[in-house]
Order: sequence, then C-alpha cells, then structure tokens
Amino acid sequence: MISRLSGGFVCMRVSTGRVPQSDSRMFTVVVAGFGLGVQRQGERRLTVPFSQLQGTMQTIARHGGRISAVLGPDADPAASAAEPVAASAPAPSSSSTTPSKPAAVSHADVPVNLYKPKDPFVGTVTENYSLLADGAIGRVNHITFDLSGGDPQLHYVEGQSIGIIPDGEDAKGKPHKLRLYSIASTRHGDDMAGNTVSLCVRQLQYEKDGETINGVCSTFLCDIEAGAKVKITGPVGKEMLLPEDEDANVIMLATGTGIAPMRTYLRRMFEPAEREKNGWQFKGKAWLFMGAPTTANLLYDDDFNRYEREFPDNFRYTKAISREQQNANGGRMYIQDRVSENAEEIFSWIENPKTHVYMCGLRGMEPGIDEAMTAAAAAKGLDWAELRPALKKAERWHVETY
Ligand code: FAD
Ligand code: A2P
Repeated sequence: MISRLSGGFVCMRVSTGRVPQSDSRMFTVVVAGFGLGVQRQGERRLTVPFSQLQGTMQTIARHGGRISAVLGPDADPAASAAEPVAASAPAPSSSSTTPSKPAAVSHADVPVNLYKPKDPFVGTVTENYSLLADGAIGRVNHITFDLSGGDPQLHYVEGQSIGIIPDGEDAKGKPHKLRLYSIASTRHGDDMAGNTVSLCVRQLQYEKDGETINGVCSTFLCDIEAGAKVKITGPVGKEMLLPEDEDANVIMLATGTGIAPMRTYLRRMFEPAEREKNGWQFKGKAWLFMGAPTTANLLYDDDFNRYEREFPDNFRYTKAISREQQNANGGRMYIQDRVSENAEEIFSWIENPKTHVYMCGLRGMEPGIDEAMTAAAAAKGLDWAELRPALKKAERWHVETY
C-alpha cells in the first residue's frame, strides 16, 4: 500500500487502532530535503518498523523534511491523512551523529606477535573448568595458562587474542595449524599477578554423515588438564582495544564465547582489584548485550550481575536468551531483537562521540545487528549504510566475529 502525500512540510498521524504497537512490519518513508550534506539534496527512503514510524515522521517534520509517500504492507489510507505543520527546527546538527575522531583508541605499546608459530611460547595449564550451569547446551570452559619464564615475557592487553597450536598432526601427517582465541583475562590475569592468560572456549561439535565430529583445537583445550604444556603464539589484534578515555561509553554486543573480550573490559572497569591496580578509573557508562541459548549457558553471569548491583549508574546488562525468550514475532530472542527494543537509547549513546560499540562472537549475528541498526538509524533520520563506515573510520565501531 502506498500513501501519497502532498508536498510541503507534513507530519502524518498513523492510527494505532488496527495495529498493535508490537507490530514489527516494516514501512518505508520516502522523503526529500532531509539528512546531512548531500542527503538533503536527493530523495531518501527510510525503512522502519511500525513501532518507530510515528517517531520517524515527527523527526522528519521537525527537521524540515518533505514526506512524499509511506510504503507499507497494509496501512490504511484513510488513517494516514496528512496535515500541515510548521517547520521551524534546524537540520540535525552534524555534531550529533557525525562520528568525530578523538583518536579514541591508543595503539601505542600494544604487543604484537611476541611469539610466532615457528617458535611458540610453551605455557602450562593452571586450571580448566566448565563455565556452564546444569542443563546447559554443549561445553564451554575457562582455561588458564601460566606464562611466566618467557624471554620476552608474553604479555597482552584487553581485546587481543592468542594462538593455540594443538598437539598432534592433521590428516596429512603435518603438525596442526594454530587457532585463534580471544583473551578472556585482563593484562593482570585472573590472579592479578600479571603472568597468566585465560581463554573461554566452546567445544566445536557437529554432525556429519551420522557421525559426531569434534573440533580439533577446541576439544584439545576443553579436555586439557592442569600441568599440561601448550604451544601459544601472539598476542595479536588491535581491532578490539578499549579507549583510554575514562569517560568513554561502551556498548558491547556478544554471543556465546564472544563474551571473552567483554569480560576483560568489564573486569578492567568494575572489578575492585583491577580498579586499584590499573590506575584507570572508568567513569563512563557500559552496556552489555549478551546472547546465549539458555540461562544455564550465560557465561560469567554472576560477575556481571554483581557489577550491575555495585555500579548501577555505570553498568547495564541486557540478556537475550534465545531458547527461553521470544522476540516480538514469536521467534528466538537474539541480541539484535534487544538492540531493536532499545534502539532509541542506543542511538542517543552513539550520538555521543565518546561512545564505542564492540561486537564479538558468531559471524552470523552481523546481518541481524546491521538490520536492527538500519531501522534504528532510520528512525533518527540517518542512513546506517553511511553511518557505520563513518563510525568505523572514527575507531568507534569494533567487530571481531568468527
Ligand atoms: P576444527 O577442527 O578446525 O574444525 C573447524 C572446521 O569444521 C570448520 O572450518 C569447518 O570446515 C568445519 N565445520 C565447523 N562447523 C561445521 C558444521 N556445523 N558442519 C560442517 N562442518 C563444520 N572460539 C572460542 O571458542 N572462543 C574464543 O574466544 C574464540 N575466539 C576467536 C577469535 C578469533 C579472532 C577467531 C578468528 C576465532 C576465534 N574462535 C574462538 C574460534 C576458534 O579459533 C576455532 O575456530 C574454534 O575453536 C574451532 O576450532 P577447532 O580446531 O576446534 O575446529
Ligand atoms: P540459538 O543457538 O538458540 O539459535 P552459544 O555460542 O553458547 O551457542 O551462544 C550463541 C547464541 O547466539 C545463542 O543464543 C544462539 O541462538 C545465538 N545466535 C545464533 N544465531 C544467531 C544470529 N544469527 N544472530 C544472533 N544470535 C544468534
């Protein structure tokens, strides 16, 4: 259905009588003279869910945009009558959403490739325990290695990864290649002594031709016992570094073991021993969106609940428990559904140039997050396809998926 509107400044009343607020059908608003820079010269199409349609059109009207049509699945033309309003608001200020670049993340002194595959460091496992509660799906373990005695000392910062070379040989009789794992401990290590590294590893298991296949390295790690020696490379990675600014805001989007870097950030921000030792007193706001299949699969949940209790003004923890909760369409609740639910607030955070977004975990979540951000941006009169690369360029959009 297409609602055609006369030119000029308009706002549209959309009846909510026939359609519930939770309706997630998508509508496209065709608008001219709206947006930043060249966007204002052409016609733009903003696609938003019904719940954001009213707000989008009000925003457009406030900023002097001209809506020429609303395209939707079954909107009622009679309910979509336009009426003229005064247009007095200025266009959105470029300072609000144009990502500025305050050189937010420092790459100085970040160690890289201290140990390479040809001559790896040999660490010793100090502990290996399950992170899952009774009834959880699969196997996810927290594994710690002693790094002491290396020359150079293997050290790292929050947001980096290390490589693990599993023992044994591949099908061709060659030594196994390394696999990367996000580091789950801060630079101080879980025991604060500065000479350990911890990982959060899910055992890869899948069915093929009626047979269960176990991933080589993830099974090696989940089965490993304290005292075992393990070949370690790295550290690597500068994509997921935390900003140095103590006033930064940090939005974290994690699925499963994608929580590993987020755990390092949150420990650095809120763990009392870390705050005392790291000389970095986080004063900004942090918001974690965590996706897990069941409550029993939530990783490090007790710690995050404690941080939320102890730092209620600085930390929010939002869970998407896919097999226990439903999204607005009755499907599995994923973090992108939580992003959509909180879109208005997330965007008001992003408008602040001190806000960084970190995404880690399943590669498959990227399109869903993009879709949710596209709708949320559109409701603010912004084009996510332009905003995302700009945020990336400003080093405020950080992605590590696998
Ligand atoms: P492999 O024996 O190497 O098997 C993997 C192969 O199995 C795939 O390449 C594919 O060919 C095949 N396969 C996989 N699934 C299926 C399927 N469903 N059907 C058919 N074939 C399939 N993992 C973590 O657990 N925690 C982390 O913190 C972590 N961080 C990472 C960080 C980065 C930067 C990267 C790149 C990866 C990270 N990973 C992490 C993933 C990790 O590196 C390994 O890929 C993972 O543990 C599997 O390795 P594996 O040796 O057990 O599996
Ligand atoms: P589900 O497996 O129920 O479909 P884990 O690594 O512990 O399995 O957790 C990964 C979480 O991410 C699960 O809740 C999983 O849901 C969810 N997930 C799976 N696919 C996607 C996707 N495309 N986007 C976002 N979340 C996803």
